[in-house]
Amino acid sequence: MSSGNSEGKDPAGRIVVSDAVLKIDSFLNQQVDPDLMNEIGREFAARFASESITKVLTIESSGIAPALMTAMRLRVPMIFARKKKSITMQGDLYAAPVYSYTKQEVNEVTVAKKFLSVNDRVLIIDDILANGAAALGLAQIVEQAQAKVAGIGIVLEKSFQEGASKLKEAGYRVESLVKVASLQNQQIRFLEDVPV
Ligand code: G4P
Ligand code: NA
Ligand code: NA
Repeated sequence: MSSGNSEGKDPAGRIVVSDAVLKIDSFLNQQVDPDLMNEIGREFAARFASESITKVLTIESSGIAPALMTAMRLRVPMIFARKKKSITMQGDLYAAPVYSYTKQEVNEVTVAKKFLSVNDRVLIIDDILANGAAALGLAQIVEQAQAKVAGIGIVLEKSFQEGASKLKEAGYRVESLVKVASLQNQQIRFLEDVPV
């Protein structure tokens, strides 16, 4: 079977899928690079070292790898919020609605109440920050538990979308390892390369 000679031109093979979407399935969204995740965990742990973090919180599925490595460095548990409720997860849940811009649907994300409590200082970790819906939903869950959001760590921020500014306006400390200023014309431009 031939897949044609369109390699590199086929939209499915592109890294920059559109002016707004970047493909990261080779190291994070499907295949995962363990060495890279290890370094990411080390970096988040260093940036939030003075925050007395007691739990790392993320959302399934792509946040789990960086969150786990961060939690390992900080020597605290990692919790991932679920997007779909399972029958083993009834009652005693914190829940927040998270609208997915890319899927155009609302997911009720949940965490069992027993995993968060008033004394927790929670570091929220996610892979991509776009419009901020996932991070804000996780922050809502932390606040329902009357715990403290000690910070938000993001592997890749799309700075041309509104998530980063929304989270900062809400008063959260946001640390993004990579900041993408633009994906226009099939080119990745990083924030640090954009003249101010
Ligand atoms: P938001 O939380 O910042 O508002 O994000 P949004 O609704 O826009 O994103 C919904 C899903 O799409 C999230 O994954 C998010 O990580 C992903 N996403 C957003 N922008 C990009 C992008 O440029 N590239 C890639 N690869 N993904 C993007 P999810 O549905 O929660 O899926 P997963 O965690 O199971 O992978
Ligand atoms: Na994702
Ligand atoms: Na995610």
